[in-house]
Amino acid sequence: MSIINFIKKFNKLNRILFTTPSHNQGKGGAPQVFGMLGRSFFKCDISEIEGADNLANPIGIIKQAQDNAARIYNSKATFFLTNGSTSGIIAGMNAVLSRNDKVLITRNCHKSVYNGLVITGAVPVWMMPHYNKDWGIYETVNLDYLEEILSKNKDIKLFIMTNPTYEGLLSDVQAISDICKKYNVKLLVDEAHGALWNFHKALGTPALLQGADLVVQSLHKTAGALNPSALLHIGADSNIDPKFVQQSLNLITTTSPSYPLLINIEGTVNYLDSAKGRMEISQLVKNVNRMVRNLRMVPNLEVFSYNNDVTKILVKVTNMSGFELSDILFEKYNIEDELANEKSVLFLTGFGTTKSKLKKLEKALTEICANNIKITQEKEDYSVFNAVEPKVKFTPALVWGKPYKEVELKYAVSRVSMELISAYPPGIPVLIPGEVIKKEHLEYLKDKKKIKVLI
Ligand SMILES: Cc1ncc(COP(=O)(O)O)c(C=O)c1O
Repeated sequence: MSIINFIKKFNKLNRILFTTPSHNQGKGGAPQVFGMLGRSFFKCDISEIEGADNLANPIGIIKQAQDNAARIYNSKATFFLTNGSTSGIIAGMNAVLSRNDKVLITRNCHKSVYNGLVITGAVPVWMMPHYNKDWGIYETVNLDYLEEILSKNKDIKLFIMTNPTYEGLLSDVQAISDICKKYNVKLLVDEAHGALWNFHKALGTPALLQGADLVVQSLHKTAGALNPSALLHIGADSNIDPKFVQQSLNLITTTSPSYPLLINIEGTVNYLDSAKGRMEISQLVKNVNRMVRNLRMVPNLEVFSYNNDVTKILVKVTNMSGFELSDILFEKYNIEDELANEKSVLFLTGFGTTKSKLKKLEKALTEICANNIKITQEKEDYSVFNAVEPKVKFTPALVWGKPYKEVELKYAVSRVSMELISAYPPGIPVLIPGEVIKKEHLEYLKDKKKIKVLI
């Protein structure tokens, strides 16, 4: 039986529960919360009652739902994550890495990878992606560079990369996985932004079809699910043992997983795989493509269109920083973007991105370019972070909890950072604990007066 059907059936039984959660399907609790979320939400919120399952050791309805997802994605195993891709990345790392194992990571990774470093005690080897100054974004994995690093560091156990990048750029994951196999390195692909890919061929190619060992996908980013629901998959041909992955997930996952989220994951996966779901993706792709075609005709507007994911729209306007464009869109048009940098602005689309919503954005961008609208608000002095090659002095795990002091920035150069400083979104680390603070970091840190350094 599916999780959804179990809950439906359970709600008709009027069972008298003396279990957690004590709200008893919404009979008690704060009225304001109840009013806001509604009775149906509370009716779905159960724990490991008779007939339900245990996310930490699934044998019943959760196992069936996960097995069904594994069939749909053609994975060796798929795990439902009620704590986002963040938890999948950490658990995936923990399933492969032991203390002092070397892990190669592209620097434009999400900050959950840092958390994984603290938990595993692994030693990071950073791969610096090329920084595209024209668009203010990091580019994809360079195959020669990957091969060079792996051939020089034969003890690397795992390679972690993000595909698509936050801004939607696509790497050649098949070639990357071939190189990883050659050097006996496992591959974890953070596909948080690629949850629609398995269901439409005009989108990126799923890493599961390109030989990755572990893949995470956030269902809430583009696939219309609630925050923070995600999937962790093991590749069909990977020799990673699902038991290790389950154990790693159990280390960091609550023992009271949210059934509303489990329903939401199960329902979203089935919808994505349905004819209706696939049609909705097709419609989205058509709508975005049409809009991008129109935008290409707008003078002074450029749309990024080199090997990128359709669901991400990256634009820039001549003589206007991305921050300025973002401010105008927000102030004058009530439009909020996903991310702005000094050059460009990123718009995320997915389920929920209607044609009329896209039309509003198209109209606003066209108007801004035609009228050269400027906002009156004082221009902020935004600092630009262009990748600084990290110098790892100690692993994040080694400096975790160690004594630190705060020093003025001018005295910080050459000291070891005890702070994780990252631009959010997308949460790409500028400095992480254990790394040496360089002169080049100061430009980025100038809003800070002091920084925590290792004593
Ligand atoms: C590239 C990337 N990976 C992972 C994550 C974490 O995903 P989640 O919010 O599902 O934990 C994010 C979130 O912003 C992300 O952008």
